[in-house]
Amino acid sequence: MLVAQGVEKAFGGPPVVQDVSFTLARGAITGLIGPNGAGKTTLFNCLAGTLRPSAGSITLEGSRIDGLRPDQIFGRGLARTFQIPRPFAAMTVLENVMLAPAAQAGERFWANWLRPGAVAAEERRLRDRALHWLDFVGLTRLAQDPARVLSGGQRKLLELARVLVAEPRLILLDEPGAGVAPPLLAIIMEKIAALNAAGTSFLIIEHNMDLVSRLCRPVMVLAQGRLLMQGAPEEVQRDPRVIEAYLGA
Ligand SMILES: Nc1ncnc2c1ncn2[C@@H]1O[C@H](COP(=O)(O)OP(=O)(O)OP(=O)(O)O)[C@@H](O)[C@H]1O
Ligand SMILES: [Mg+2]
Repeated sequence: MLVAQGVEKAFGGPPVVQDVSFTLARGAITGLIGPNGAGKTTLFNCLAGTLRPSAGSITLEGSRIDGLRPDQIFGRGLARTFQIPRPFAAMTVLENVMLAPAAQAGERFWANWLRPGAVAAEERRLRDRALHWLDFVGLTRLAQDPARVLSGGQRKLLELARVLVAEPRLILLDEPGAGVAPPLLAIIMEKIAALNAAGTSFLIIEHNMDLVSRLCRPVMVLAQGRLLMQGAPEEVQRDPRVIEAYLGA
């Protein structure tokens, strides 16, 4: 699905992601763990195009994506959620999900002027898809409420619905379990498993080892910007190098 080779990212100083190479298998839920500040989110930003890697290559389904803009990478089927979701608070939950990028704003402007009927039909289709995915994550009841009423866990679900509208083939989740109450976390895990069973691949950053052991095969460990090892969750959890990396941090 995705091949990263020698990925590096520096912000002026020493690199915070260094010589990272890995392969994500199609259909897998791969975990990415590591102590705070290890470079996990930075690596995500490089994969999703939010940051341009200082070195290395990233290939998605056979084509290079490093150097592309986030919207271009999104258009190729790779979507990501943010560690701290920031929905547009005053917009409704449904409107937030409908923000999934479609045509360019300029194109839409002219299309609306020349063919208003077609634009209205497209809006209806987008709305139907948004409602479908809101239902999937269990937020239908809150569709017309402003996003500001959502709890932290519900915001994670809103983010998931927002990326699902584009039907990506690979989804990067940055700490889907952080700040989420256990009943909601169980729902999120169930949704990830269901999407995966239907063919979606995942790369998940997570500190919650329960989520990691239940969902992720394999698990990669990042420490101080470098990939330390990868393996089954049980293998990773008892590896002395991993234990040392966490204790050291
Ligand atoms: N835009 C930036 N400019 C400068 N340094 C940055 C920037 N973004 C991240 N860093 C630094 O890069 C390192 C890795 O940060 P990153 O957020 O990728 O870690 P993380 O593994 O996601 O940590 P956490 O588990 O706490 O989310 C940290 O030392 C951080 O301060
Ligand atoms: Mg992070």
